[in-house]
Amino acid sequence: MPAPTVPTDLERWLASNDQRIHDELFEFLRIPSVSARTEHNPDTLAAAHWLERKLAAIGFTAETIPTPGHPVVLGEWRRAPAGAPTVLVYGHYDVQPPEPLELWTTPAFEPTIRDGKLFARGSVDDKGQLWIHVKALEAHLATRGTLPCNVILLAEGEEEVGSEHLAAFIKGHAERLACDAVVISDSSMFAPGIPSILSSLRGLAYFEINVVGPSSDLHSGMYGGAVVNPAMALAHILSTFHDKKGRIAIKGFYDKVLPFPKAVLAGMKKLPFSDTRFKKDVGVKTLGGEAGKTTLEKLWTRPTLEVNGMLSGYTGEGAKTVLPAKAMAKVSCRLVPDQDPKVIERLLKAHVKKVAPAGVTVTVEALHGGHPWRADLAGKIFDAASRALHAAFGRAPIIQGEGGSIPVVVDFQKILKVPVLLVGFGLPGENAHAPDEWILVDNFRRGLRAIATLWDEYTK
Ligand code: BES
Ligand code: ZN
Repeated sequence: MPAPTVPTDLERWLASNDQRIHDELFEFLRIPSVSARTEHNPDTLAAAHWLERKLAAIGFTAETIPTPGHPVVLGEWRRAPAGAPTVLVYGHYDVQPPEPLELWTTPAFEPTIRDGKLFARGSVDDKGQLWIHVKALEAHLATRGTLPCNVILLAEGEEEVGSEHLAAFIKGHAERLACDAVVISDSSMFAPGIPSILSSLRGLAYFEINVVGPSSDLHSGMYGGAVVNPAMALAHILSTFHDKKGRIAIKGFYDKVLPFPKAVLAGMKKLPFSDTRFKKDVGVKTLGGEAGKTTLEKLWTRPTLEVNGMLSGYTGEGAKTVLPAKAMAKVSCRLVPDQDPKVIERLLKAHVKKVAPAGVTVTVEALHGGHPWRADLAGKIFDAASRALHAAFGRAPIIQGEGGSIPVVVDFQKILKVPVLLVGFGLPGENAHAPDEWILVDNFRRGLRAIATLWDEYTK
């Protein structure tokens, strides 16, 4: 079979509209739609309305639909020839908080291109990738006046805070959202020049642990030694979560872990991955985790428990002799099929109860969670994506797992009962959630061509 190519009409349109596509993306990135911060609620709403207007401008019917949280933007185009399939494209228009601001080379909401990279909060996660979809759809409608399939575009504003209201939204609009496949670009490629299709995502169970001791901070000389120190009690609890081999020591934690399909594990071993390179990229000399597993196995196929943050006692300049009254830690588990966040919550709470020292009160609160996901990778949409990525990147994609989480993927699969294709255009080191987030301009360009080609390939 000849290597697939990007259709000439779409290529020509994309090339001649390059500047406008970038200018509009810059406008989108300038809106500080930080979903976690109430002071940014007007900006988050402004981003939703901005997107709604852009969808209307390319010929979609579009509306901003309120939820108990941030609204959903729903765009629809349903004029494909009779019998054509319907696809649902999902993305998110909210972004993570930009702090710490002083670590950005240029401000988070002033998009800037340096060394072929577009820097801005949301450039890769996920406004840039959502924009790829909008402009790919425009390429079709502008050149041909039509699309080969019906398209629903759903953009949410709460992904970065746990998609709390999205499952209910999908259930409540299941008929309207009925489709043949869901397509999501909110992830990364394996390496520069190597496009990928995701075979799995990890799930999440997030907790806050609070340890409370004396009724106020105490002089550590006058009371220390006789009163249980909440910071030490918390440190003790945290230290019981893993055994010496890096396994999680919570009873029953691994009970539901399914073996990973042999074909996926075999494929993983063939990927060009180097521990030396990985250590250099993250700036460490030695790697940790479960003994006897490769790095990719640890990242993609195994569950984890990590401390995300800790707070206790005096942390200012110099020394202060104090016995803190309380201590807090944020702890989260990444989950793999078939672990259930609710069951993990029960097991973790039982474990903490067992190991908590006397003399302090310990509470565990579950913050949010999401189920792990595994793709079956069979079907038209996956084959079409493989050809479209080949056309745009000059080589066939690899299949890869992913350590991050997109909780709504399982909801789409369960409620709409359709396959979900995850194809992303970020890169390792892109600084998602961190200062100096970027997307490679060339990946944006090629991603746009891949997605524009996808709709032709899917309906061939
Ligand atoms: N885009 C990411 C998820 C992701 C990251 C997918 C890297 C593939 C590669 C998404 O916006 C995200 O950050 N999700 C959160 C989950 C959540 C419940 C806050 C995550 O993984 O921490
Ligand atoms: Zn994110």
